[in-house]
Formats: sequence, structure tokens, C-alpha cells
Amino acid sequence: MSAAAIRVATAPGALAGQVVAWQAVHGRNSLPWQNTQDPYLVWLSEIMLQQTQVATVRSYFARFVAQLPTVQALAEASLDEVLGLWSGLGYYSRARNLHRCAQDVVRLHGGVFPRTAEVLVTLPGIGRSTAAAISSLCFGERVAILDANVKRVVTRVLGFDGDLAQASQERQLWAAATDLLPLPATAAQSMARYTQGMMDLGATVCLPKKPLCLGCPVQTVCVACADGDPQRYPVRSRKLKRSSQSIWLLWVQTPDGAVWLATRPTPGVWAGLHCFPLFDDEAALRAAVPAQWQASLQPHPVFTHVLTHKDLHLHPWRLAVDAAAPFAVLEGRWVQAAQWPALGLPAPIRKLLALG
Ligand code: ADE
Repeated sequence: MSAAAIRVATAPGALAGQVVAWQAVHGRNSLPWQNTQDPYLVWLSEIMLQQTQVATVRSYFARFVAQLPTVQALAEASLDEVLGLWSGLGYYSRARNLHRCAQDVVRLHGGVFPRTAEVLVTLPGIGRSTAAAISSLCFGERVAILDANVKRVVTRVLGFDGDLAQASQERQLWAAATDLLPLPATAAQSMARYTQGMMDLGATVCLPKKPLCLGCPVQTVCVACADGDPQRYPVRSRKLKRSSQSIWLLWVQTPDGAVWLATRPTPGVWAGLHCFPLFDDEAALRAAVPAQWQASLQPHPVFTHVLTHKDLHLHPWRLAVDAAAPFAVLEGRWVQAAQWPALGLPAPIRKLLALG
């Protein structure tokens, strides 16, 4: 197993000091989940920010906190309510884990978030980096975060060219990120700003394609900048293997707008969300429709919905029925348009419904 090259030569704590000073002036300091040490708010924002842009998270965060202001309120909410608040953010396993995590915080920790990353990481949906973000931002714990943005910063600063597809290299990078932390004597005061500073550097300066090295506080010690090819980091050999799947959707609607929705089973795509009946092919969809309605089936244009590991090719078929009689052949229920906003609906279903 080869050791990755690490060539940085700064005094211990020096780089952290530069990041902290830069963050105070140039970092993001007025996001809705900042200027608080409430771990509920920080945890919620970190989970939302894992796969979603800051601009989108702002409105979801505000709505979520207004409706469920404490970990106790979230623990007592129904999963349906949580999925409704999450609807449109995607990656719904985050919302299911959020709910389970709140219940564990109440059940196992008396409703009080643990203060160390070591304990936080035992909770559902909280990985090593998120645990460190919460404990450093809220409690000043001296632990490194290493999300995708921060990996880019650390690998570039250090000229770390180990292949992060290998667990041993990933482990080495965690150790290197820990070595860069503020010194223990200053950590309690500086960890929150350091963590936020590393995130801010990754998000606003050390960009994947065109890093803004001239505005970077650690430019003078950055190996990748000195070598003139920062885009070469981070190194990761394994490409995501993408798959694709075709799905046929039966979009049944009454003249007053009600649609027939069923709860998706767990596990599976859109688990727990409310969805049109889904089929593997057109024949299966047709077989589910009673004979008197076959002639009314209308194909809607096919479209593709992109998930992390999968392209979903969606084939909606519309069926206008006269009245909201039980659509007895299929599991599900009629749902009026007024109920849609509060329901957990997959993004493409919401998109179709918006078309009318
Ligand atoms: N991305 C992940 N965590 C973040 C935070 N605390 N602020 C802004 N962007 C983030």
C-alpha cells in the first residue's frame, strides 16, 4: 500500500489560524443556521446541506423549524409529516433517518444531543464528517470534518494524491486533516470558525473547476497552487457506476382533480412517499386497468429523472375517470389537490401534477 505524498511545510496550527482569520472577514456568517449553538438546528441544516444547495435549503429549513422547532417535536411527528416537509429536497432516506435520529435522541439521550462526535456518529444518518461538524460548531470539539468540499481543500493544500477510492488513503486523509486542526490550546475558541472556514473555502474559493487561488488565505502554502494544477485533486479512480430503469406510471385523475396515490413500499425507490401506481412495463400497467377504461388510457411524453446512481426513464399514462369511486383494482386512495402540498411526493410526481 503506497503512502500518498504529503508535502506541506507549515508550522502546526498556522494554516488553521489563517483559515480562522479569513473566515471572520470573508466567510459566510449570517446563514439561518449560524449564530446558534443549538445542535438541533445545526444537525438539521447539516443533513439538509449534504446533497442540496444553500439557496434551496434556506426555505426548507425555515419551514421545517417553524413547524417542528425542537428535537422532541420532530420525534413526536409522524413520518408522513416529516416526508411532507422534505418533499422536493430529494434523497428521502435523509428524512427517514432524521426522524429515527430524533426518536433516538429522545429515547436514548433524554432529548439532549450528545456533545462529542464519537457519540453523535452512533445515531442514524450521522456520518463521521457530520458528527464532527455538529460537535465542533456547537461545542468547540477539536475534530476534523471531511465532506466533499473540505476533501478538495485538504488534498490540494497538502498535495495529497492518494486514491480516495481506497479506504487506506481515505483514512490517511482523515489523519492529515486532523493534523491541520487548530492547536489544542486554542481549539475551544476557534473550532467553530475553523470548521465553517474550511466549508466556506471549499464552497466559495477552492472550487472544483476554476479555483479562485488569488483570494485564498492559504495560497502561499498550498502545494496544488504552487504546482499550478489544483484541478488534479482530489484523486479518485473509481467512477460511479450508473444504472438506468424504466418505470410506467398510472396517473388516474377525476374531473375535480383528485389523483389515485399509493404509499411506496420500503425498501425501494421513493420508499414511504405517496406515488402513482408504478409498473415495470406497459403490459403490466394495462393489465391493472379495468376493461371499460382501456380506451381512455393516454400516453404522456416520456421523461428522465436523474437519481445519484440511476437514471429513471418515466413513462406516465393518463387515465381520466368519471368520479372518485374506489379504484378497487389497485392499492391506494384518492387524494385531492388541496392535500398535495403537505404530502411527501417524489419530485417527478410533483412535476407532473403541476402540469395539471
Ligand atoms: N454545507 C455543509 N455545511 C454547511 C454549513 N454549515 N454552511 C454552509 N454550507 C454548508
